Amino acid sequence: MASTASRPVVASQKVLSLLDHLHNQSRAQESSFAMFLFYMGRYIRFLFSKQPQSSSFDDFVRDKFIALEPEKCDFLYLLARASGAMNVVEAGTSFGVSTIYLALAVGQNVASKSTEPVMPGKGGKVIATEKEESKAAKAREHWQQAGQEVEPWIKLLEGDLLVTLPKQLGETDAVDLLLLDIWTPLALPTLKLVKPKLRHGALVIADNTSSVKLLYKDLLDYIHDGTNGFRTMTTPFSGGLEVAVYLPELAQ
Ligand SMILES: C[S@@+](CC[C@H](N)C(=O)[O-])C[C@H]1O[C@@H](n2cnc3c(N)ncnc32)[C@H](O)[C@@H]1O
Repeated sequence: MASTASRPVVASQKVLSLLDHLHNQSRAQESSFAMFLFYMGRYIRFLFSKQPQSSSFDDFVRDKFIALEPEKCDFLYLLARASGAMNVVEAGTSFGVSTIYLALAVGQNVASKSTEPVMPGKGGKVIATEKEESKAAKAREHWQQAGQEVEPWIKLLEGDLLVTLPKQLGETDAVDLLLLDIWTPLALPTLKLVKPKLRHGALVIADNTSSVKLLYKDLLDYIHDGTNGFRTMTTPFSGGLEVAVYLPELAQ
């Protein structure tokens, strides 16, 4: 992993060190043999039954980060900064690692657009979503450790996002960026839920669209279909990272 000194993220040394620490923990889990077996089992299960998920899947990953790799998080941060994102939806929060990058970007975007002193948490938000209570608690702990640069910019919805998100979206301005880092069967339903709120030019980012392309078939078919208003490419990060832009006027 690149050292924090050469990474593009603007944050205090405290936050950068926390991120290093969390990524190290996540990477140690990802490189375990148990995790390898788990991913293989999931894929094989899908090939035979078309069901990638099961309750044993949820049990196995309850104490796992499954965080986006640092390079993808850096890219996500840069995309959020470049697009001036103020309202972000994160589908799948886990222990809150990617959320920290998004919150940094939102807070910094709000500050750069404001002529008044910034009130932490006012003027922008990352709507984070996590269904596992223990994971949500851990994520909150990490954001508290990160402090004022991060914590005030996050609103965590606990529970199934298909239930929690609709009400929150009703109270939210246009969404600038949607991160789909969720179990694959939920990716398209989540996109369809958020789509009416996407602003023109909004970014939709989905992880591992090359490595588990089959599991993402419905999402990829949808965003490749010109009538739905997306223009998309799979960027060449490990496993593939889909970056789609919502341009509804191009829908034909
Ligand atoms: C890949 S992890 C997210 C990792 C996180 N984005 C990061 O990079 O640190 C996906 C998470 O989605 C959560 N999840 C799965 N189904 C969900 C649902 N229906 N509603 C909310 N969260 C869900 C899982 O519990 C898991 O923690």
